[in-house]
Amino acid sequence: MTDTSRKPTTSDSGAPVESDEHSLTVGPGGPILLQDSYLIEQMAQFNRERIPERQPHAKGSGAFGKFEVTADVSAYTKAALFQPGTTTDLVVRFSTVAGERGSPDTWRDPRGFAVKFYTTEGNYDMVGNNTPVFFVKDPMKFQHFIRSQKRRADNNLRDHDMQWDFWTLSPESAHQVTWLMGDRGIPRTWRHMNGYTSHTYMWINAEGQRFWVKYHFKTDQGIETFTQHEADQMAAADTDYHTRDLFEHIRDGDFPSWTLKVQIMPYEEAADYRFNPFDLTKVWPHGDYPLIEVGRMTLDRNPTDNHAEIEQAAFQPNNFVPGIGPSPDRMLLARLFSYADAHRHRIGGNYQQLPVNAPVAPVHTYSKDGAMAYRKTSDPVYAPNSKGGPAADTERYGTPPSWYADGDITRAAYVDHAEDDDWGQAGTMVREVLDDAARDRLVDNVVGHLLNGVTEPVLQRAFTYWSNIDATIGKRIEQGVRAKADEKDPKAAEQANPARSSMQRKA
Ligand code: NDP
Ligand code: HEM
Repeated sequence: MTDTSRKPTTSDSGAPVESDEHSLTVGPGGPILLQDSYLIEQMAQFNRERIPERQPHAKGSGAFGKFEVTADVSAYTKAALFQPGTTTDLVVRFSTVAGERGSPDTWRDPRGFAVKFYTTEGNYDMVGNNTPVFFVKDPMKFQHFIRSQKRRADNNLRDHDMQWDFWTLSPESAHQVTWLMGDRGIPRTWRHMNGYTSHTYMWINAEGQRFWVKYHFKTDQGIETFTQHEADQMAAADTDYHTRDLFEHIRDGDFPSWTLKVQIMPYEEAADYRFNPFDLTKVWPHGDYPLIEVGRMTLDRNPTDNHAEIEQAAFQPNNFVPGIGPSPDRMLLARLFSYADAHRHRIGGNYQQLPVNAPVAPVHTYSKDGAMAYRKTSDPVYAPNSKGGPAADTERYGTPPSWYADGDITRAAYVDHAEDDDWGQAGTMVREVLDDAARDRLVDNVVGHLLNGVTEPVLQRAFTYWSNIDATIGKRIEQGVRAKADEKDPKAAEQANPARSSMQRKA
């Protein structure tokens, strides 16, 4: 008898299917027939379920929510989403960087913190991390950096030797590596971490005045982190701990929130600021540019289809809206190309038409056709035209965010500002931000990491690297590694350093 409480299964074309269980055969023991279109559809769809995973940031998840403006920053930006009293819907995706889609959430790694605001003036994407700085400052090195974090060619294993080889040959990484090896390198949950733009952006107000801005999403749950040991235990117990934590808290009505604050630098101050304000390996000390409140982001709705709403979410730093623009940070400028290119490859050319990526703002574009085109095109299909097609409102929107640029075309490092160097801000963190217990954990974390496969001459370079950050920490790390290496394998230690081992024997 038909069970009327259940909907009948259909094929993808909507026709009722004959069976959920049995394929079409010639007699119960006979061969399967090519005319079983439903079986073939099931197998073919299955084979196409996966899209390529993101190259970096493959493991992650997210949720939907809203951003409410709680203060008045209209003096700095005319962006509609940041005007007093405005509420904007959004989607967020959190992620790790180096691990593949099935990798543990609690590996030591920066966390992605990507937000897509569905504003009335188009989508605005803030694609940041849970760290205010980054490992490199020139996009030429980004691909190499990511490869050094991923897998070797020969054994397909991750390799700390490769990671430290890259880092120690790239001293600009020191600030971010210090951050990563400290407590915040493993957040307890995504709810318990901050998000930062890291890059400097431009804000423009209604009068056309320009400002430089950095965003800080401060967790309202408070910062909480895992020790290396806790994270290792969790990786074994629950690979998807962060994914589960976010989903369950939202499901149970315990909605996480973040307070957005910004640092604002007047346009003219950039030229002579003591640090290059566009160098992604530097912060702006809070004492120089204090935090100003903007509003609150709350996540209150889980995806119902993780693939459609999170895996196919396409965040891209080039999604700007009027009142917000880029800065001369060359990492950011490269990212303005890279992400949309990745989406065209990973999802397809019309990825912006998928519901999770489609803006709530009306789209009047001359883009048309292509695979899986969903939005309808209408005539005229060209511009300029005299047939009533869309026309750019240059009076209102015609001035691009801009800064003065001039000089010979070159391949060169940034010109240093007065206090720019690779080690200074990392040293400040070690000496002035961390307390004794946090410094002890930093030393333990680095020692553990170095003992996991780092060989000479990279090891010696790592000691020098840490001594450049802070002489005491450098010495402690070297002593820690030497002592533990001796404990592990006294014979190998003697071979590696016969003079030191014979002195130890005499002592
Ligand atoms: P402040 O004393 O005003 O700020 C220090 C900041 O360090 C805190 O506000 C906090 O950032 C962050 N912090 C605290 N504990 C840790 C930790 N274990 N790992 C990483 N960050 C931590 O000093 P300054 O602004 O003058 O900055 C001093 C140093 O602090 C910088 O060189 C930089 O290394 C680090 N820092 C600075 C930030 C900035 O934007 N100015 C942001 C983060 C770190 P938060 O309040 O964002 O949680
Ligand atoms: C993801 C490139 C630097 C944050 C990605 C992806 C690419 C990429 C290709 C995968 C996109 C996808 O397939 O959906 C680059 C390049 C960089 C750079 C070329 C530098 C030149 C940074 C920096 C940050 C960052 C500095 C943070 C401040 C992220 C985040 C994601 C991501 C959060 C995941 C977004 C999501 O959840 O979908 N990056 N990246 N990246 N990147 Fe970068």
